[in-house]
Amino acid sequence: THKIILDTDPGIDDAMAIFFAFQSPDIDVLGLTTVYGNVPATMAAKNALSLCELAEVDIPVCKGVAMPWVGPESKYAHFVHGDDGFGNINHPAPVGKIDPRSSAEFIVEMALKYPGEITIVAVGPLGNLALALRLEPDLPKLVKAVNIMGGAVFVPGNVTPVAEANIWNDAYAAEIVLGADWTLNMFGLDVTYDLPFAPNFTNILAQKNPKLGGFVEKAAKFYMDFYSAGKETRQCYFHDAFPIAYIVDPTLFGMTEGNVRVSTDKLNQGQTSFAPHGSTISPDWLEASSINVATTVDHPRLTDLLINRYA
Ligand code: BDR
Ligand code: CA
Repeated sequence: THKIILDTDPGIDDAMAIFFAFQSPDIDVLGLTTVYGNVPATMAAKNALSLCELAEVDIPVCKGVAMPWVGPESKYAHFVHGDDGFGNINHPAPVGKIDPRSSAEFIVEMALKYPGEITIVAVGPLGNLALALRLEPDLPKLVKAVNIMGGAVFVPGNVTPVAEANIWNDAYAAEIVLGADWTLNMFGLDVTYDLPFAPNFTNILAQKNPKLGGFVEKAAKFYMDFYSAGKETRQCYFHDAFPIAYIVDPTLFGMTEGNVRVSTDKLNQGQTSFAPHGSTISPDWLEASSINVATTVDHPRLTDLLINRYA
């Protein structure tokens, strides 16, 4: 099995992805580390704990950074995920306790305990990973890989014309994480916006798995309202499932390798620019380490995988 730490800001597609990981026998989730993003940091931690309780999965849930690396408190995505992060469905508060370790501390502790074994899956802003790199500079040598949902390399952004939300939310942290010398696999809007999911999909999840799929179906109504505005058919995107699916079956994706840098200037904050290997870009720009960027996704096979795992 693949040991992972799931770093998340739940969030509706986060919830869907967390259950996907829990339902995967080939994935061992060591803990959920949480971060501000879709919702404030305290709510993100509580939401993650609620999801564990619903799924009856007893693992550590840690609270993480509450603000970007640089700059003021972020704007949260309540208009996408609801005031509660779950589409305003009045889901009960968790009864258990948040782990006393911070998200960054937990990441470092686990990496030291299982050197070379852990894949960090990060599906929110990247502040916890940046902080973990500061706590333990050897972290890149200690983890197997880092799979992120973030960025928009060859397509427009979703917060600004050039920036995707997770990267935009903490651009300085993202530049640190994308520049670190580890195997980083990046699943951005390049692939996640390529695969819209219709209500039929969440219906099937709910039928196959009334408890977890039923939660996703209920929570995703608000989320689909947001994503369907101005469109003829109802749909939404389950971005955060992609970097987990890559662990289960890397052949679902086409990848291209090169350098990615993140803009920290005001106008282009969070823009992810790509230089393919062998390009004649200035060596100063190429300082960042090499990254595998997902460029294509096998629609039917990913959809089938998600449905089968919820069953
Ligand atoms: C990303 O931003 C969040 O709203 C989603 O949970 C996803 O991680 C998509 O841009
Ligand atoms: Ca997310």
